[in-house]
Amino acid sequence: MSLTMSTPTHIPVLLTETIQALAVQPGGRYIDCTLGAGGHAAAILEHSSPGGQLLGIDADPEAIKIARARLEAYNSSALLLNENFVNLEAICIKYDFFPVHGILFDLGLSSLQLNSDSRGFSFQQDAPLDMRLSPIQEVTAADIINTSSENELAHLIKTYGEETYSHRIAHRIVQERPIKTTLQLARMIEQTIGSKRGRIHPATKTFQALRITVNRELEHLEAALKQAINLLGFEGRLVVISYHSLEDRIVKQLMQQEAKDCICPPGTPTCVCGHRACLSLINKKVIKPPLAEVQINPRSRSAKLRAAKRIITQDEYYKTTEKLCSLIDINAEGWRKPALLGKLRKAFSTL
Ligand SMILES: C[S@@+](CC[C@H](N)C(=O)[O-])C[C@H]1O[C@@H](n2cnc3c(N)ncnc32)[C@H](O)[C@@H]1O
Repeated sequence: MSLTMSTPTHIPVLLTETIQALAVQPGGRYIDCTLGAGGHAAAILEHSSPGGQLLGIDADPEAIKIARARLEAYNSSALLLNENFVNLEAICIKYDFFPVHGILFDLGLSSLQLNSDSRGFSFQQDAPLDMRLSPIQEVTAADIINTSSENELAHLIKTYGEETYSHRIAHRIVQERPIKTTLQLARMIEQTIGSKRGRIHPATKTFQALRITVNRELEHLEAALKQAINLLGFEGRLVVISYHSLEDRIVKQLMQQEAKDCICPPGTPTCVCGHRACLSLINKKVIKPPLAEVQINPRSRSAKLRAAKRIITQDEYYKTTEKLCSLIDINAEGWRKPALLGKLRKAFSTL
């Protein structure tokens, strides 16, 4: 068997569309908040060469190791950090990495994580019910399954899995505890609600709910998207690829809200909110993978790409940048030397 056939791999989803939506240009600065195996990051670095820079973040230390090896050739242009994107603003301040031309979120898990026989993300193989992106997180899926009340379990399976049979599943879990492995849980769900559920396995929604809960995925996504907007320079691009409706709803609502000048409730006679648009939508409709991509990479089938660019006046830009600059610890060991406001002002005209 050839090396490529036996080496587990992750195929980057909507790669061409992502590079286009980010409008990657030579010398540009980009952040990949979900580095994974580094597929999108490699393409960003290639298209932003010469002179491009990339800050890559992943909560999973294993992903960072893989991406480091893959992006070795770009060593001097890429800073790869094992961090959670919920800390995006603090990371960019620490490393003086703003304003940027584009920020990418390719949400969810990589094929490497899903195929791993020890992480517990999938019921395709038996593994301890872990599901943490990072070993420094304290709570595992097994902790949630084995210690939550029946009501709490039903609520989280319903809310984060959109599972119709959440109460039946929660009741059975409590009867059968302790539940330790992925296959034990998957088989128990199949016995509880039957195996005929269209194209998806009956445990899919419960596994999604557990993964979202363990990693606080929706909460972190919302917080990080808000931080990302402030880190974009003039007309900087925000690109998000999501894989399920709960994620996509957060992205869609935030982008649509930030693209509006007034967000007063419908029917309010005159605007009282004072809200001003800071984004302009690039694609009004979501971009989905073409059939040819889905055939090659079935995991891409649920992907939805949304993109927006930052609209900001020069004055607003100075205000945000000044605020962020005031937070820079000038003694910190940064990747680049902390920027001075004057340099940033100059950067504005070239962004
Ligand atoms: C779909 S994969 C990205 C694949 C990547 N675009 C590529 O081309 O190889 C998503 C990655 O995001 C990471 N991730 C998910 N949530 C995160 C978070 N809150 N902070 C940092 N990384 C996160 C996961 O660990 C995973 O490696």
